[in-house]
Amino acid sequence: MSLKAIVTGGGSGIGLAAATALAAKGMTVACLDVNPPGEPFIGIKADVTDDAQVRAAIAEAADRLGGIDVLINNAGIGAQGTIEDNPDEEWRKVFDVNVFGMVRVARAALPYLRRSEHAAIVNTCSIAATAGLPNRALYSATKGAVMSLTLAMAADHVREGIRVNCVNPGTADTPWVARLLDAADDPEAERRALNARQPMGRLVSAEEVAAAIAYLAGPEAAATTGTVLAVDGGMHGLRLRPAT
Ligand SMILES: NC(=O)c1ccc[n+]([C@@H]2O[C@H](COP(=O)([O-])OP(=O)(O)OC[C@H]3O[C@@H](n4cnc5c(N)ncnc54)[C@H](O)[C@@H]3O)[C@@H](O)[C@H]2O)c1
Repeated sequence: MSLKAIVTGGGSGIGLAAATALAAKGMTVACLDVNPPGEPFIGIKADVTDDAQVRAAIAEAADRLGGIDVLINNAGIGAQGTIEDNPDEEWRKVFDVNVFGMVRVARAALPYLRRSEHAAIVNTCSIAATAGLPNRALYSATKGAVMSLTLAMAADHVREGIRVNCVNPGTADTPWVARLLDAADDPEAERRALNARQPMGRLVSAEEVAAAIAYLAGPEAAATTGTVLAVDGGMHGLRLRPAT
């Protein structure tokens, strides 16, 4: 029996790569996105900041898939600046998508997940949750919240047979980062700086993050819950001496 999966933010970047990786493992996949993809996925248009839209989208996905076994909570947006740079309205907006969005989607999916034999939630967190990055105060605060939320949800639902884990990507080569580079004064210098920040000297690919998500989502990770899997080119754990 093939597992049924939902991926939020499945229209681009890491979400689209995760949907592709889950499908390659034999899962049937519905993507919830403000800009959803088409075939081979079930694309459902929904904004994770709107609870009514989320509930309707999850019900539609469960109906079309025939249940829900796996939820990949991945939709997210960025923000740049120190705490002096972002107005309250932007703080509310980014928390609304990155944190409350995951809560809304998971809350709506839980009744279906409880009926699954292989229930798993994977949240897309970030290196920004575990390392202090300059000019990312708001974004980092949302991802710190996602990491703590992952652990709390893992505790709340372990006895219901629902596993909850997160992946922490380093800077990944997605349309999001392409937009950041396009906006930089010197995109090539910015790309070199981002590459150099990761000990492997390169960005992580969306497919590498997706492989970690697909592992945590699958039955082979059945004993794994409440973990944080870094896919960051060594950025969190390593301290290298300067190259000579
Ligand atoms: N790219 C990176 O370097 C990087 C690093 C660490 C973590 N992440 C995280 O990975 C996730 C995906 O990022 P990405 O780089 O693939 O970005 P992306 O911009 O390529 O894709 C994000 C997707 O989310 C969708 N989305 C945005 N707001 C939404 C909303 N309100 N409702 C529904 N869908 C919405 C977008 O339409 C888009 O399809 C995010 O949670 C991000 O924080 C990215």
